[in-house]
Amino acid sequence: MLSLGNTYSKEELFDFDGRVKKGLGTDEYEYICELKFDGVAISLKYENGILQKGITRGDGSKGDDVTANIKTIKSIPLKIKGSSPARSFEARGEVFMPKEVFNALNRDRERDGEALLANPRSTASGTLKMQDSRIVAERRLDCYIYTYLDDENSFENHESSLKFLANAGFNVSPTYQKCKKINQALDYIKEWDQKRDMLPVETDGIVIKVNDISQQEELGFTAKNPRWAISYKFKPKSASTLLKRITYQVGRTGAITPVAELDPVLLAGTTVKRASLHNANEIKRLDVRIGDVVNVEKGGEIIPKITGVNLSARRGDPRPITYIQNCTECNSELIRKEDEVQHYCPNFQTCPPQVLGRIEHFISRGAMDIESLGPKTIKGLLDKELIHDMSDLYLLTFDQINNLQFEEFDEPTGDTVKRSIKEKTATNIIRSIEASKQQPFKRVLFALGIRYVGKTTAEKLANHFQSMDAISQASEDEITNVYEIGERIAKSVILHLQQSENLKIISSLQNAGLKFKTEEKERKTGKLSGLTFVVSGVFANYERDEIKNIIKEHGGRVASSISSKTNYLVAGKNMGPAKKEKADSLGINILDSLSFGKLLEND
Ligand code: IVH
Repeated sequence: MLSLGNTYSKEELFDFDGRVKKGLGTDEYEYICELKFDGVAISLKYENGILQKGITRGDGSKGDDVTANIKTIKSIPLKIKGSSPARSFEARGEVFMPKEVFNALNRDRERDGEALLANPRSTASGTLKMQDSRIVAERRLDCYIYTYLDDENSFENHESSLKFLANAGFNVSPTYQKCKKINQALDYIKEWDQKRDMLPVETDGIVIKVNDISQQEELGFTAKNPRWAISYKFKPKSASTLLKRITYQVGRTGAITPVAELDPVLLAGTTVKRASLHNANEIKRLDVRIGDVVNVEKGGEIIPKITGVNLSARRGDPRPITYIQNCTECNSELIRKEDEVQHYCPNFQTCPPQVLGRIEHFISRGAMDIESLGPKTIKGLLDKELIHDMSDLYLLTFDQINNLQFEEFDEPTGDTVKRSIKEKTATNIIRSIEASKQQPFKRVLFALGIRYVGKTTAEKLANHFQSMDAISQASEDEITNVYEIGERIAKSVILHLQQSENLKIISSLQNAGLKFKTEEKERKTGKLSGLTFVVSGVFANYERDEIKNIIKEHGGRVASSISSKTNYLVAGKNMGPAKKEKADSLGINILDSLSFGKLLEND
């Protein structure tokens, strides 16, 4: 796949238009303007209207085959609507992770103490390369298609090919626009430079394409780029402002993040007051000092960052920043592990944001799901010393919290406001704490907030070991033997269970009646562990997903396409002949739903 030439100014755009006019020897031509989506370029091959292959462009010309993962993207039709003008065609576009999905993913990672993802583009790219299509499906990628290609020149112009693509079921962004003159393209640029933050995907510019396909052919290509299209890059949204001071945030895991507190400045439609400085190395690299005029940019990253210092505006001789050595919340001496850039506060027992963060995680949806308690109430309960850790929640009584008055910090105004817990809320809180005792062991394990143990990991550990006692007794090797659990997680689990404070919490939670064992009814065998299945076709008595879940619950792995690693193909009706052929040629066992059931019954 070729790339586009870039322009950065009005003049360069006029030059492009001049070359088009000269090349065609006429001024009878039109453009289609589109947005340039910042995702991963993808090529989709269709035969008889059916999706055959999805390939990324990769870094050079050779792409990766990501067909299995592409098939999880809902807006890519596996079979097009209506008929296509050619037996085979190619659709090209951009796979992306919607900003909202990206933000939610990062919020979860922050909650689980995992490293944050840098930006939606690299996350989309990483997601497409994943082995497990199930996780890809959960990540809700999307795709905009902007090019149609076939050998039969089916369309006279680009616009009609876009209309065909949209009618065939592809996601064609409706933001494109026909422009008769280059000046209209400039209006389009101006309009979208302002509106681009409202789009679900990052865009760093626009693409201008000659509409008529025969004119495109006439213009042809240079060695690298088409002569009939060019991109115009938006200027990065930047602003300069004053660095007032640096504060330090302490996360749930104790990770310290330095934050630049700025004189408020308008950037890409929002007022920016703070920017992340990431870590001590970044502060050193920028050599930023208090009182400096700094440049703030909003790039692909959601949180604005400081990209430079205006040294000529530096007044006086401000001292270089000395990074804090003690936690700003609890004064403990910070530590920095050899291979990590981040500083940590080691006082996980009593450092307030760490305690608060852990309890917030404990009550959150997906964990103990104690709905009626919110972060603010938790903070109030901590301030009033009614709780010190999550196990104290189970000791709360109605009388203690009914009418409880506490103070709450109101972020927008910076004021402290008084709040109190009303009778009805108090009843609900006590009731939902009580109800949370019924949450299954896998949730309790997740809720404990062991570093790197997210929801899926907790589920895998609970299914494998079936009780907290068994996990406590397991060696690092035994933990890493669990499918898809690595050394980093195993070490973290062992460390967590060695710390006396954690053991105290676990034992109090056990006394409160929480579940620390999987129930008999949810207990699964590990009968299918080490085996890889592909499930295909339609089944009389099951949904396909049901069969997949049964496999996973019994320790098996579900893949989406057949390879030499597949052990069994569970086949229903209407399975594609190609799949069967491939399974046959690789000598893979094919099971119908009955023999699949037998596989589970056998001892
Ligand atoms: S048309 C000959 N249209 O930008 C290349 N590309 O540098 C024609 N891109 O590889 C490409 N949005 O990954 C085209 N609306 C759009 C685009 C777009 C993003 C990407 C694409 C391409 C790169 C070109």
